[in-house]
Amino acid sequence: MIESVVRASETAQRGEPSLELRHLHRFFGRLKAVDDVSFKAWPGQVMGFIGPNGAGKTTSMRILATLDTPTAGDAFVCGYSVVDDPDKVRRYLGFMPDSFGKYANMNVVEYLDFYARAYGLRDAQRRDAIEHVLVFTELRKLADKAINTLSKGMSQRLGLGRCLIHDPQVMVLDEPAAGLDPRARVELRELIRLLASEMKKTVLISSHILTELGEICDSAAIIEAGQILAYGTVAEIQRQQQATSGSIGTRALHVRLAAGDTLDEATSRLEKWLLEQPMVKDVQCSVGHATFDFEGNETEQQQLLQNLLTAGHPVIEFHGKSQSLEDAFMNITKGITQ
Ligand SMILES: Nc1ncnc2c1ncn2[C@@H]1O[C@H](COP(=O)(O)OP(=O)(O)OP(=O)(O)O)[C@@H](O)[C@H]1O
Ligand SMILES: [Mg+2]
Repeated sequence: MIESVVRASETAQRGEPSLELRHLHRFFGRLKAVDDVSFKAWPGQVMGFIGPNGAGKTTSMRILATLDTPTAGDAFVCGYSVVDDPDKVRRYLGFMPDSFGKYANMNVVEYLDFYARAYGLRDAQRRDAIEHVLVFTELRKLADKAINTLSKGMSQRLGLGRCLIHDPQVMVLDEPAAGLDPRARVELRELIRLLASEMKKTVLISSHILTELGEICDSAAIIEAGQILAYGTVAEIQRQQQATSGSIGTRALHVRLAAGDTLDEATSRLEKWLLEQPMVKDVQCSVGHATFDFEGNETEQQQLLQNLLTAGHPVIEFHGKSQSLEDAFMNITKGITQ
C-alpha cells in the first residue's frame, strides 16, 4: 500500500529529487532507531517528518547532516551520498539541530561570520552572505547583541540564519518551532514558506506541533519505532489511512442551525431526526450544532441534505469535517516505544 502511494506522489513530481533516503538503517546495539526508512523530496517542497518521541527523527536527520553514519542503506543530497561524499553533502545541506551551542562573548554578526568562514566564504562573498541572512531573518537590528542574551524566538531565527549562510539547496530543520510563542511560530512558518516557494529549497522539518505542520507542509512522512508508516501528500496519507482502516466511504459531517429563539428545541429535533436516519452514526450535538459519521456515497449525502431541508430544519451550514494531519497521525501511529 505504501509503495503505491509513494509511486502516485512521485509521478506528480518532475526531475530528480534533491533529497532521498534509501533503505536507511541505524542501530544502537539491539535498538533499531532507524529501520529501513526510504522517502524522497523535491525542490520547492516542504516535507513534514512526523513521529512521537524516540521515533528516529533526530537520528535520521543527523545522518543527513553527516554527523552520524548509517548502519546500512544510504541517503542522497542533490545526488551526493552521505556515505561516499559527505563533503559535497555539507555544501548542499543546511542543518538546524534541535538545540545548538550559544557561545558567550559573541554577537550575532560574529556568530554568522564564524560559520561563513567555516564554509570557506571569503571577503565580499562573506559580507554579502551575512547581510542577506540578517535581512532575511530580520536580525539586522540585533546584529550587535550578544547571542547568549537572545530570546528563544530570536535564537531560532539565528539558528535558521546560520544554516542558510552557505545558501544550501536542502534544509533539514529539527523541531525549529519548539518553545516558540504563537506569533514567533507564524513568523518562522512564513520564513520557511519563502525558502521553499521563492528560493525553491527543499525543507525537511520535524515537529510535534502537528497543526503547524499541516499548514506549512505539502507532504509528510510519518515515522514510528524507526519505520515509515505513511508517506505522501497529506491527502494521500489520509486516503491511505482510510483504506487500511477499512473505513472508506465514511465521512464526518457537520450541520449548523441558524440562530433563533428556539435553537435549543431545533437542536433536539435535529438530533432525534438524525438518530432515525440510516447510514448516520455517532451523532454528537451541542446547541445549534450536530456532528456525525455518514456511511453513504455522494448521491446519498446529497439526498440527506435535501431531506434535512424538507423536514424543515433551519440548516445554515452543511459540510464535511476534513481529517487533519493530527487525526491521520493519531490513527496511523500506535504509541509504540522501543
Ligand atoms: N547515541 C545513541 N545511543 C543509543 N541510543 C540512541 C542514541 N541516539 C538515539 N538513540 C535512541 O534512538 C531512538 C530514536 O531517537 P531519536 O532521537 O532519533 O528520536 P526522535 O524521533 O528525534 O525523538 P524526539 O521527538 O524525542 O526528539 C531512541 O530510542 C533513542 O533513545
Ligand atoms: Mg528528536
